[in-house]
Amino acid sequence: MNTQVAIIGAGPSGLLLGQLLHNAGIKTVILERQTPEYVLGRIRAGILENGTVELLREAGVSRRMDAEGLIHHGVEFLFSGQRIPVPLSELTHGKSVMVYGQTEVTRDLMEARQSSGAPTIYGVEQVQLHSLKSDKPSVTFMHNGEQCKIECDFVAGCDGFHGVSRQSIPREILREYESVWPFGWLGLLSDTPPVNPELIYAHHERGFVLCSQRSLTRSRYYLQVPLTDKVEQWTDERFWNELKCRLPDELGQKLVTGHSLEKSIAPLRSYVVEPMQYGRMFLVGDAAHIVPPTGAKGLNLAVSDVNYLWRILRQYYHNGRTDLLSQYSQLALNRVWKGERFSWFMTHLLHDFQSKSAFDKKMQEADRQYYLGSRAGLTTIAENYVGLPYETVE
Ligand code: APR
Ligand code: PHB
Repeated sequence: MNTQVAIIGAGPSGLLLGQLLHNAGIKTVILERQTPEYVLGRIRAGILENGTVELLREAGVSRRMDAEGLIHHGVEFLFSGQRIPVPLSELTHGKSVMVYGQTEVTRDLMEARQSSGAPTIYGVEQVQLHSLKSDKPSVTFMHNGEQCKIECDFVAGCDGFHGVSRQSIPREILREYESVWPFGWLGLLSDTPPVNPELIYAHHERGFVLCSQRSLTRSRYYLQVPLTDKVEQWTDERFWNELKCRLPDELGQKLVTGHSLEKSIAPLRSYVVEPMQYGRMFLVGDAAHIVPPTGAKGLNLAVSDVNYLWRILRQYYHNGRTDLLSQYSQLALNRVWKGERFSWFMTHLLHDFQSKSAFDKKMQEADRQYYLGSRAGLTTIAENYVGLPYETVE
């Protein structure tokens, strides 16, 4: 089998890259280890930056998102019971974010891929990448018990944190940067109306709380919990009681509880690998970087990588531009590190750290007072939250 770009992984990165390339007349094959149902079963964040929304529109997959997604012009913080609105649009010359779940983005992309007729092979095993430093890389894998091979011009490693792509780069070439956080997030999804029109990021001495939503009738809440907690220890009732306890009375009274559709604990990790390319293989999304979810940058950074890579590949195929290929890693990383910084900053600002020294706790408090007490501080938060601009590829 032959193609132009072999894409490993059919998560949001692989599917979006595939759609943009397909629309530009560039041939792709996507290889995915799991089934479509498994991929859609993963519950992830639900906040789309301005640039993400625009790229999904450019890819022609925005019909349902534009009809059902909720535009949010603000977000709220809550410290010591005090509510602090952050008017995102006012602070960013009219920009906003959209509430539309990652699962829905993935579903829309899967449907678009299917109707385009471009191939996605699900259930592949033992994917191996070969000759990445040559002009003719190839990918081998097992499918339905048969050994298969794809010859291609480029490989896009969109296979997430545990994928094979990053592992195919010689170790001595890679530099990994990592920080693991000393707590987790316990999330609960329920068909109950959100407690507040805007998302609320709340600090509490018992731990951080996020009140998020998927729609006007579906809520997503998170509680900071010790890493040693197991989800079985958290009945729905215990979750709702703890949430109420961490919210001020006026919100606690409005909270509508209900049975959970999903409940899980996720650890928090900050991770970046450099460089994000090796010969003719490019790493995209979670394959190259992970952020803690505070600020919802995971999907948005994946889309940012796709934005750069597909423009570079289009310039290569349409205009013969070979010079841009080597620029991918640096372009992507410039923005990745800013996203890492913001996620790190938000995580520090909002969580309870038992391990912090008395001095560091005072610094955390001063950060809160400074960032949330001045227009300059709020503007910094707002411009990062709606998403920093992309550099142009030319
Ligand atoms: N072969 C084929 N497919 C693989 C392999 C492999 N060896 N290893 C992993 N995959 C698949 C996974 O099954 C998964 O469907 O690659 C896909 C990677 O998808 P994601 O993990 O969702 O990563 P990405 O597409 O980069 O999306 C980034 O997802 O994890 C969140 O916070 C993250 O929101 C961000 C977004
Ligand atoms: C979510 O809705 O799942 C969500 C929203 C915002 C975040 C993280 C997660 O910062």
